[in-house]
Amino acid sequence: MAETSKTATLSIDGKDFELPMHSPTAGPDVIDIRKLYGQAGVFTYDPGFTSTASCDSTITFIDGDKGELLHRGYPIDQLAEKSHYLEVCFLLLYGYLPKAAELEKFENTITRHTMIHEQMYNFFRGFRRDAHPMAIMVGVVGAMAAFYHDSTDINDPRQREIASHRLIAKMPTIAAMAYKYSVGQPFVYPRNDLDYAANFLHMCFSVPAEEYVVDPILSRAMDRIFTLHADHEQNASTSTVRLASSSGANPFACIAAGIACLWGPAHGGANQACLEMLKEIGDPENIPEYIARAKDKNDSFRLMGFGHRVYKNFDPRAKVMKQSADEVLDLLGVENNPILATAKELEKQAVADPYFAEKKLFPNVDFYSGIILEAMGFPTSMFTPIFALSRTVGWISQWKEMLNDPQNKIGRPRQLYLGETERDYVDIENR
Ligand code: SDX
Repeated sequence: MAETSKTATLSIDGKDFELPMHSPTAGPDVIDIRKLYGQAGVFTYDPGFTSTASCDSTITFIDGDKGELLHRGYPIDQLAEKSHYLEVCFLLLYGYLPKAAELEKFENTITRHTMIHEQMYNFFRGFRRDAHPMAIMVGVVGAMAAFYHDSTDINDPRQREIASHRLIAKMPTIAAMAYKYSVGQPFVYPRNDLDYAANFLHMCFSVPAEEYVVDPILSRAMDRIFTLHADHEQNASTSTVRLASSSGANPFACIAAGIACLWGPAHGGANQACLEMLKEIGDPENIPEYIARAKDKNDSFRLMGFGHRVYKNFDPRAKVMKQSADEVLDLLGVENNPILATAKELEKQAVADPYFAEKKLFPNVDFYSGIILEAMGFPTSMFTPIFALSRTVGWISQWKEMLNDPQNKIGRPRQLYLGETERDYVDIENR
């Protein structure tokens, strides 16, 4: 816990309460309210936790005003440029950049955990072919507790580590299987001679009928998408994983809970919703109508891929993602992709619009990722599973940090009750 630098005085009905404050290494000071209810008999009220620190953490730092994202202190644009996903996984999990031998050992371990239990193939076949891949991922990842029971004891550090490696290693296999199942093609086993991103593309797009060669530019772009989505401090799905874990639930159940939360269109589902919105807009001449709808308080429509709870200047990931989008579309000879043209024109008009400027709504990580994924050949239904695959290391790193935190206790928020006060039951004949 950070040192207690100063105190805040809260005055209620003329009585003063001293609350300790803690200073972080970066970001705002926090007021420690853990004893407030005991001392003053009041709760704090913060729906959506917009001003509440739920924990302390050393993993990721975001400065929403500066558009800054650091993983263990390293800026996301440097990691996206100079590192690669499995090295970022090591950094998030262990807190430092590995030496060559450590990285090789880690990559070797992950590579050799990419296959899933053969009986899970039967589990897959229980789903309808048109099941959304996220429904499959929630089910299959939760079911891992039934197949990998030997790494569910959260009080055993070795079992925690094995579960971490299994989840990071097997998520691409599970996501690729969900895709293959939805298109009626045979499952493709992972290959140990391919790196993480290339292996995922191989498992998604190779077919037994012919040789599939992974294009290095596509696997680099895929790896960059994984890196840009790896962790993002206490977002909704990470907070879900922490809350599930606080009850002592096994790691597979906790990650399945995170996947379920990520599925929502306000969160990880936004990349699918964003591309569907761009397709609905179609021609750039329709953009003003959609911008007007997004501004209309009587219209529930929102510009998917815009806005963020924390970033109120720009999402640094969107900047890197936009650069990748240009590279991938140039490579695929679809630089004239009409959806990209609409996306770029939408961004230009929205960012120039006073409404979006005053509300501080800028393209977020989901705005360009969908364009890249579609250009690579993924259906929109696979966008959020890819986000979930990438974010697994962030969920696991935060889960691990929480279990190692001596302050860890079951999460149990309170409420502002506005319901009926006590009243007697009324027999049906008297109602
Ligand atoms: C992710 O938390 C994370 O870190 C998430 C994430 C991660 O890596 O884990 O970054 C991933 O989830 C990115 C966000 C993806 N979601 C979307 O793109 C969906 C569209 N965006 C919105 O739903 C919204 O911007 C949120 C949910 C992302 C953030 O909402 P906030 O911060 O709670 O803001 P708000 O809903 O209170 O809106 C503030 C104002 C409102 O107007 P007023 O009530 O003040 O008049 O801005 C408006 C909103 O109506 N607004 C939008 C808008 N987003 C907010 N208006 C039009 N289009 C939008 N996209």
